[in-house]
Amino acid sequence: MPKNAQKNIAIVQLKGGEGKTTLAVMTAMMLQCGIVTNERHSPLDQAIPANRIVKLEHGEEMPEFPPAVRVVFDMAGFEDPRLLSALRQSSVCLVPASCSFLSLQRTLDTLGVVSGRVDRIAVVANRLESKYPNHAQKIEKVVHAHFPHVQILPLRRSSIVDRIFMRKESIQEIMVRPGLLSRSYQGFYEEYKKILDFINH
Ligand SMILES: Nc1ncnc2c1ncn2[C@@H]1O[C@H](COP(=O)(O)OP(=O)(O)OP(=O)(O)O)[C@@H](O)[C@H]1O
Ligand SMILES: [Mg+2]
Repeated sequence: MPKNAQKNIAIVQLKGGEGKTTLAVMTAMMLQCGIVTNERHSPLDQAIPANRIVKLEHGEEMPEFPPAVRVVFDMAGFEDPRLLSALRQSSVCLVPASCSFLSLQRTLDTLGVVSGRVDRIAVVANRLESKYPNHAQKIEKVVHAHFPHVQILPLRRSSIVDRIFMRKESIQEIMVRPGLLSRSYQGFYEEYKKILDFINH
């Protein structure tokens, strides 16, 4: 099958705690697709119905997914040989990152692993705060010095993330509700829609 017929999305970052699971859950909810994780103690079942989750056991091989099945791979941050299989089955890779020194170092390591293995890669400059307006540019500068073709997509820090897990609500469900709540999440929603646009090309 030609690679670009694959619609799967790999979410990868060798450093822990940068937002892989968060992005994976939001995206699987939005696209109403399955989710595959190598994380041992994954909080996925808090948000996604169990029949749409594949939790890989230690040492269990990565399944090959048929083209009719779309999945998001949430690949926890260790160098797992199954990562290459996930990338082979994906056309798009998202790498969540922040602008701490360690995150940037691991982001470059991660990009070194994923580049050339998927059609399109974006770094999600995650948990941005308005009090640090230069963080996205800093991430962009470091990434583009080594990987000029990688897109940088900003995503602000928002409490909507906790809401998604606590209430099992997708962003779309939250945003269609009239009132102040959806209005306060509008900025996050606009940024997240750009991530979806990147996925859907
Ligand atoms: N845009 C965001 N706004 C607010 N909080 C966020 C955002 N993105 C991630 N978080 C929070 O950051 C923490 C780490 O996120 P997450 O668990 O998704 O990272 P991870 O990369 O999957 O970590 P691990 O490598 O341990 O699996 C969580 O508490 C999550 O709620
Ligand atoms: Mg995780």
